Amino acid sequence: MTGSVPLLSLEEVHAHYGKSHILHGVSFHVGRNEVVSLLGRNGSGRSTTMKAIMGLVPPTGGRIHLMERDITGARPYAICRAGVAYVPEEREVFHNLTVDENFRMGEQPAAPGATRWTVEDMFAYFPRLKERRHTKAGNLSGGEQQMLTICRSLLGNPQVILVDEPTEGLAPKIVTAVGECIRDMHRKGVSVVLVEQKLAIALKVSTRVCVMGHGRIVFEGTPQQLASDEKLLADWLAV
Ligand SMILES: Nc1ncnc2c1ncn2[C@@H]1O[C@H](COP(=O)(O)OP(=O)(O)OP(=O)(O)O)[C@@H](O)[C@H]1O
Ligand SMILES: [Mg+2]
Repeated sequence: MTGSVPLLSLEEVHAHYGKSHILHGVSFHVGRNEVVSLLGRNGSGRSTTMKAIMGLVPPTGGRIHLMERDITGARPYAICRAGVAYVPEEREVFHNLTVDENFRMGEQPAAPGATRWTVEDMFAYFPRLKERRHTKAGNLSGGEQQMLTICRSLLGNPQVILVDEPTEGLAPKIVTAVGECIRDMHRKGVSVVLVEQKLAIALKVSTRVCVMGHGRIVFEGTPQQLASDEKLLADWLAV
């Protein structure tokens, strides 16, 4: 980090659903221009970590900072406005609006010096959306809705984007396009927190990986370190 304040940092974050204690002190940080993957088995707490960052599941302990700003438990819209975008597992599109109109709903001016994404950029990644730009989002396939959700979030020109299982259930060609899009987010200076079940993709696009188990981070390192550690893969990722 060379002494600078990380863009996003979690320190000892706890979270509960009712009486169930789900996150047991999650700590990690995301620097500028980093893609950090949260890996782990089903139920390990990856989505809950994203929801805690977004204020959708208010943390019951610990602190979350966006640069110097303490966003622990702030309202989701305030966290979004501060520059954090969230692409949840469930596709979130406005069903009665067309692709173009969905794009317009997402557009936000970029902060000074921040990356400016345009609708044309989105069509370059996902030409299928251009073909369907006047179609109502409710009539798109699941894969097209997933692309649209990612694009809408990017058009908000976030500083950091949390993307939860973006390739789940997508055709191989679209999986490749989503991978390209995430790599470009990195190239263009947007930081990414990614939950991705397909290990090969996570290893390819990430600058750093965190492995979660039972609501904790059990490993943090480079994709290369993870890929070469057979015990770690067997203990925490093999199904
Ligand atoms: N709304 C909820 N109410 C109660 N328990 C929940 C809720 N959502 C998740 N959990 C529980 O919290 C734990 C962590 O869930 P989380 O969704 O964070 O896992 P995950 O790592 O994203 O895995 P996956 O997406 O494969 O389920 C699991 O035991 C899950 O059953
Ligand atoms: Mg999940």
